[in-house]
Amino acid sequence: MTDLLTLQTDALARIAETADADALEGLRIEYLGKQGSISALMKTLGKMSPEERQEQAPKIQGARSAVTEAIAARKAQFETEALAQKLSSETLDLTLPAPQAPKGSVHPVSQVMDELAEIFADLGFSVATGPEIEDDWHNFTALNMAETHPARAMHDTFYFPDRDADGNRMLLRTHTSPVQIRSLVEQGAPIRIIAPGRVYRSDSDATHTPMFHQVEGLVIDRDINLGHLKWTLETFLKAFFEREDIVLRLRPSYFPFTEPSVEVDVGWQDVNGRKVLGGDGDAPGHGWMELLGSGMVNRRVIEFAGLDPDEWQGFAWGLGVDRLAMLKYGMDDLRAFFDGDYRWADHYGFSPFDQPTLSAGVGAGA
Ligand code: DAH
Repeated sequence: MTDLLTLQTDALARIAETADADALEGLRIEYLGKQGSISALMKTLGKMSPEERQEQAPKIQGARSAVTEAIAARKAQFETEALAQKLSSETLDLTLPAPQAPKGSVHPVSQVMDELAEIFADLGFSVATGPEIEDDWHNFTALNMAETHPARAMHDTFYFPDRDADGNRMLLRTHTSPVQIRSLVEQGAPIRIIAPGRVYRSDSDATHTPMFHQVEGLVIDRDINLGHLKWTLETFLKAFFEREDIVLRLRPSYFPFTEPSVEVDVGWQDVNGRKVLGGDGDAPGHGWMELLGSGMVNRRVIEFAGLDPDEWQGFAWGLGVDRLAMLKYGMDDLRAFFDGDYRWADHYGFSPFDQPTLSAGVGAGA
C-alpha cells in the first residue's frame, strides 16, 4: 500500500518535471506501457483472492487514472506552449522595411536624349538616325570636307583598315552631321529633324572619351534665316534647363558645312560657387559658356544632298549630349558615364517611370 502511494507520488512529481514531450512519452511507457510498472501491478490483480482484489483494485486503478490524467494534462500543456512559441516566432513585424526589389535605372544620357526628343517633338521635329559605321563621303565629303580639307585632321578619326564594296573608306562617324546628308537624301525638303547618337574620336582625358554623344539638328525649308536658328535654340534651352532667363550669344565661327557659322554661348551665373546657366553673361559675376556649333547650312551641302540651294535653305547645329547632361544634373567627370559602375547609375540614374513630358516637366525627378 505504502509502495503504491510512493509509486504514484513519485510518478506525478516526475511527470510535472518533464522537460518536453519526448521525456513525457518515456514516462508513459515506464508506467503505463506493456512492461510498465503500473501495468505490472494491474496484472497482479488476477492472482489475488476476491477479497484482496476488491480492496486493491480501486487503489491500483486509481493510481493508473491519476498517472494517465497527469500525463494527458502535461501533454496538453506542452502543446499549448509549442503553439504559443510558433505563433510568437511567426509574428509579422510590420515595422520592418520592405525588402528591396531589384531595380535598374535609366542612364542620364538616355534620359537627356528622351528629354531632347520630347522638346523638339513639340517644335515639329522628328528623330532621325544613321549608322555609326559610316563612309568617308557621308562623314566628310558631302559635308564640304574634301579629302585634303584641313578640318578632317581635327576629328581624330578611327578608320577601318578595309574599304567597302564600292571602294569607300569606312570609319566610325566622328559626328552626327552625316545624318543631315542621309536624311536629306532620303526625305528631301522641307525637313525638321534631330539626330541623337554615339560618335567616336581617338581622344581621351577627363573631358574627352573615345565614344561620346551628340545631337544634330537640321531645318531646311524656304526663307529660313539666322533669326529662326536663334529662336529655336533659345526655346529649346529654356525648355531643357527649365529657366526663362537663358541668354544666348552668337559668335562668328567656322565649320565647313555651314556659312555663316556661329558658335553659341550661353550665359551663366555663380550660385554658391557653382556655374548655373541663366542670365546675361556680361553682367558682373556672370560669364559665357560655349555650348554648341551651328550655322546656316552651306549651299554646297544642300547640293551634295541633291537639292537646289536657291530654293532651299536652313540651319543646323551639333551639340554634346554628355555635356548637356553634366550641366543639367551636376556630374563633373565624363569618364564615369561609361564606367558601368552600378553605384553611379543608382545615384545619377532615373526611374523608368520618370518619362520626360512637357506638361510634367522635362527635368522631373532629377
Ligand atoms: N559636327 C560638328 C562637330 O562635331 C558640330 C556642328 C557644328 C554640327 C555646326 C553642325 C553645325 O550641324 O552646323 O564638332
